[in-house]
Amino acid sequence: MILIGFMGSGKSTVAHTLSDKMNLPVIDLDKEVVRMAGMEIREIFETEGEAGFRRREFEALDQVGDSECIVATGGGVVTYAPSRRLLQNMDVPVVYLHADFDTLYTRIKDDSNRPLVRSREQVNALYEQRLHIYRSAADHEIDCSASVEAVVSKLLAISQ
Ligand code: S3P
Repeated sequence: MILIGFMGSGKSTVAHTLSDKMNLPVIDLDKEVVRMAGMEIREIFETEGEAGFRRREFEALDQVGDSECIVATGGGVVTYAPSRRLLQNMDVPVVYLHADFDTLYTRIKDDSNRPLVRSREQVNALYEQRLHIYRSAADHEIDCSASVEAVVSKLLAISQ
């Protein structure tokens, strides 16, 4: 299963809880990028720009291959066409964790390790731009403003 969605949608948290229940490993794509690059996300953005980060994110996603696992992606993975195509070609359900902008912004606004979180207006514009991309890339959509347990139980139903 692959989880997509905006920053703050809880992809990593939900992936770990789901992994305990399904007894499957989690691949956290942001962490893979950091491990493979030997640099923090902020550092990658500073030295290679967003384009460099997206290429690295694509390489990390490509390495997941067909392994049976739960993948928590970074919020912008769907904005890079090669990664989007890769997601479509992977033979596992892609689930979009959706919430309204205010819910997500409250969760992310003070995080200094997310280089794309700048002003509220800028983050809102990003959210608006991406909404339809998440929806078109996903096989399922789940409301992630509910509790982690509620989200995980919906994901369990999807995986059966
Ligand atoms: C990004 C989201 C981040 C991380 C990077 C870029 C984005 O992941 O990949 O800061 O473009 O939305 P999270 O969604 O886990 O915060």
